[in-house]
Order: sequence, then structure tokens, then C-alpha cells
Amino acid sequence: MEDEILYIVMVGLPARGKSTIASKLRDNLIRDGIRTRIFNNGDLRRKLFLKDTSHSGFYDPKNREGVALREKIALTNIRRAKDYMGNNGQVAILDATNVSIKRRKKTTSLLGDHTILFIECVNEDKEILEASILRKINLPEFKHLRKEEAVRTFKERIRYYQSIYKPLKGERNFVRLDSLKNQILAEEIAEDIPYYDRIRDFLVTDTVKNLFVVRHGETYFNLEDRIGGDSALTENGKVQARALAAYFRKKRIPFIFTSNKKRCIQTAEPIRRSQKNSIIIPFEEFNEIDGGVCECMSYEEIRKKMPHVYSARRADKYNYIYPAGEGYVSMKKRVEMGIRKALYLSTNSENIMIIGHRAVNRMILSHFLYRRKEDVPFIYIPQDKFYHIVTTQNKKLFQLKKY
Ligand code: F6P
Repeated sequence: MEDEILYIVMVGLPARGKSTIASKLRDNLIRDGIRTRIFNNGDLRRKLFLKDTSHSGFYDPKNREGVALREKIALTNIRRAKDYMGNNGQVAILDATNVSIKRRKKTTSLLGDHTILFIECVNEDKEILEASILRKINLPEFKHLRKEEAVRTFKERIRYYQSIYKPLKGERNFVRLDSLKNQILAEEIAEDIPYYDRIRDFLVTDTVKNLFVVRHGETYFNLEDRIGGDSALTENGKVQARALAAYFRKKRIPFIFTSNKKRCIQTAEPIRRSQKNSIIIPFEEFNEIDGGVCECMSYEEIRKKMPHVYSARRADKYNYIYPAGEGYVSMKKRVEMGIRKALYLSTNSENIMIIGHRAVNRMILSHFLYRRKEDVPFIYIPQDKFYHIVTTQNKKLFQLKKY
């Protein structure tokens, strides 16, 4: 089995996460001792023709010169991949858009009888797409352009690819993956695919090297046991925030995701200041559970003034939804979206931090750690400790640490 060879052909429009998945897949396979290499058409193009290929016209399917050059690049990479396999390679990943049937047919015929697995990446989330495009235009090929011009020309490039895009259908072995949710949307496997069990498992695993889930420091509302609102940190809360910053001073935290609320952003500020290059990204997805008619009330007030709310929530805390507000059950989707976005935007960073709230952090933790639903609203979320989470294909760590 170990000597079997596999060609993986990535498929998808630009900025859909293909290269990120390809490189993580390669790292995982290499870690397992499987000789794997990526053959990336964009990299080869930039190496050979950096000067003239950033403008969108190069990707116009009617531009014959552009089509011919891109074809040449694709063929060069296929040839190199075959050479690699001839020299003991086990997995070759052809990383390019490969969106047209014509290109895929040609690739298939050039690879002869070898097993091919197509992996198509899709992701139509507007916010993520914009963020990915901003990341793309940092590449050297856009250096000579102003930011707006680079974004415009890159979006036009995507449109050209869209005009010839045919999703996978009928290929012998393929997987269509939602690259934001790590969810397999379609799967057709007609042959025995070498290493497929670990590849498939990898595709659906959230890979998080180090995620630090922190609750904001103490607030004035916390002192009175009031829920929700947008209260600021107390002096003690500010001391906690500084202690947190001191604890993480020696780690690189390039991204600190928070809710939109003052208390989370205030908790994040000292960390950002103590780091070299760090940004705070507030997401409304990480806002605390909306208490609806009970917002800003204390638990005691709720118990006295709205005993029906108090007792109904006690009876089924997970499913109970505050009138005109939320419940754990209804927060799940948005918090998960926040996690997805945070992981996607911080791809490749060693450390990520999310500073959230009690209920939100429970939902974040339950995303990584299986808990029965009814136990989720009771997960312990203190203000002087944080959770350290590592989840990769072969490592799961979940640790509560004091700072
Ligand atoms: O009290 C702080 C707080 O974050 C409130 O804003 C929120 O309503 C509550 O905790 C969530 O915890 P529980 O679901 O246990 O009431």
C-alpha cells in the first residue's frame, strides 16, 4: 500500500482556500512518512512571468496568448509531478484552478492509468471571500498596483474563471468540500484511493494549532450579577487584562478575535499593545447571548419580576430562548460561523485568541469538545483562567490554565 501513488488535482475558483488545504494536506502526509509534493501553477507562473500576469486580461479565456501560457505552465507542472513520482514520490498535488472540463480531461489523459483524486473547494461567504482577496493582493505580483486597483483586477480575474467554471461531475474520484466549514458536500469515489482514509479525515478536521479561549475581565455588571449590556471593565478587570497580556508576552498572538462589546475589546487592548504585530478583530458572532426582555437585569431581578422566565430557563437551559432574545440553542449557528471565520482568517498562525463571554465561550468550547447539549450551559468559564485548545488530526488537547 505504502508504494502506491496518488495524484491529487485541486479544483476551484481563486481565493477558495485550495492552496491552504493543499499545503496542510502535504504537511500531514509528510508527517505520516508519505512523500508528498505540491505543484502550484500560480507559483510557477510568478517565477517565470511575474511581470505581466497580474492584470486580469491575462486570464480572459479569449486571450489566446494568455491561454497558451497558462496551458504551458499546467503542462510543465504535470511533467514535473510525473518526474517526481518516477523518483519515489508517493503523492503529487496539482494545485491550480482546473475549473474547465477541458483542462481536467487533458490532465487525466496525461496522467494515464494512475489514480487521481479531485478535490474541489467551494466557499461563497462574502466576508471571507473579501478577506481572502485582501490576503491575495499582498503577493509580490500586485506590488506595483494600488490596493483598490489590485482588488479590482483580482476580482475580474475571478470572473474570467467563473465564466469557464464547471463544478466536478462525472470524474471517477472526487470530493467537493466547503472549505470554510470543512464539510464534504459531495463525494464520488469509484476506486481504491491510496491514503484516502487519512485524507478524508484530514479534510473534515478543524486544524487549530493553539487556540486560547479567554473570557473578558471583571465588569461593573458582573459585580451586580447583571446580564448582557455593554458594561466596562472594573479596576480589577483591568488588572486581569494586564495580567493576561503579561502571560502572553512571549507568545506571538497576531490575531485577537473579540465580540463587539467594550468589555472584550478592553480585555484585548493590553495584549495587543504588548505584542509586536497584533490586531483586534471584533466579530458580532462572538457577542454574548442576547437576554432579550431580561437584558441588563440581575438574576435576582429576573427571578422576582419574571418568575416564569426564571423557572422555564432553569427547566431547560439549553433550549430556552429569552423572549425577544436568544438561547444557547439559537446561538449555535452564529458562534460556529464566528469560529469558522476566525480559523480561516488566521490560517497558518501558530496562536489564535478569542476573547468572549460566558455563554459564547461555552458554545466555542463545545464546538471542539463534545458535551451533551444539556451540559453545555454549565461549562465552567472563570475570569482568571483561559482554555488552551489544540486540535489537529493526531492531537487533541484541552486545558484550563491560570494566568
Ligand atoms: O453574567 C455574565 C453573562 O455573560 C451574561 O451576560 C449572560 O447572559 C450570562 O453570563 C450567560 O450565562 P448563563 O447562561 O449561565 O446565564
